[in-house]
Amino acid sequence: MTENAAESRPRPRVLVTRRLPADVEARLRTEFSPLLYEDGGPIGLDKIAAEAEKADALLITGSEKMTGDAFAALPKSIRIVATLSVGTDHIDLDAARKLGFVVTNTPDVLTDATADITLLVMLGAARRAYEGQKILREGRWTGWAPTQFLGTDLRGKRLGVLGMGRIGQAVAARARAFGMKIHYHNRRPVAEAEALAATYHDTVESLLRVSDVLSLNCPGTPETHHLINDRTIDMMPPNAILVNTARGSVVDDEALIRALKSGRLQSAGLDVFEGEPKVNPGYFDIDNCYILPHMGSATVETRNAMGFCCLDNIAAYFSGQEPPARVA
Ligand code: DGY
Repeated sequence: MTENAAESRPRPRVLVTRRLPADVEARLRTEFSPLLYEDGGPIGLDKIAAEAEKADALLITGSEKMTGDAFAALPKSIRIVATLSVGTDHIDLDAARKLGFVVTNTPDVLTDATADITLLVMLGAARRAYEGQKILREGRWTGWAPTQFLGTDLRGKRLGVLGMGRIGQAVAARARAFGMKIHYHNRRPVAEAEALAATYHDTVESLLRVSDVLSLNCPGTPETHHLINDRTIDMMPPNAILVNTARGSVVDDEALIRALKSGRLQSAGLDVFEGEPKVNPGYFDIDNCYILPHMGSATVETRNAMGFCCLDNIAAYFSGQEPPARVA
């Protein structure tokens, strides 16, 4: 297509369900015809279905549950749904395929930010950061003491990475720099793991048994639902630490809270929760968990890159190319 033809083509109309970083909204206004919600959303599925009549593309986030019914309710004008997330557990991809919608996600661009926050909550859990902060903020700190807030070194400990995809590998690389020994389970061994001197386990159970620290980096799927439960926690070494920056659904909260209360697990570092934004209140009553509200990809650079990735996919689709991050 010539430059003139591209210029004269109508701009794709994009319905955006949440406020996005300023640079992303600026590009939306320059290259597309956006329908933006000034109050920050999330907007309900009914409203999406109604407003989508005026749009060609839908830009959603992990907060919008795109079930089969939600896809069926979309008007025919919508051709592509771009999600501002690498995770697609909120989207019924089979229904999208059946109904002829293209779906894209945001792989790669959030790998480093998510791996960074994994180390943050891992250290927070290992070094009792919450307890230290609490006593300081409440004005109860009486001074340094040789036996105060003794945590656990990461150096020399075995890190079990459950799910050795992009984020799992980035977590492993960082953990290596902290002197940890890497073990992992994945459907198949991954070639990149060799550079990390990582040991492959062909079952989850085998990985759990050697994980002084277990990092969950697998997707939230029916197969991984409550993979961490009373039975599997019991397989872990005494005083193990659990880290979850993947999806809350992988963990049975009641089982984890029990294990943290009883001391079966030393501590947990969590950035994600089942049923977000609701969080099992049991976590608020215990000091040995370091918790954050789903902040894994929350940096300016990363959220910009995620937004631009969505726009690149939408732009590619409407210029007749294959969207680079197409998942359906
Ligand atoms: C993702 O990209 O899946 C993150 O969890 C943010 O939603």
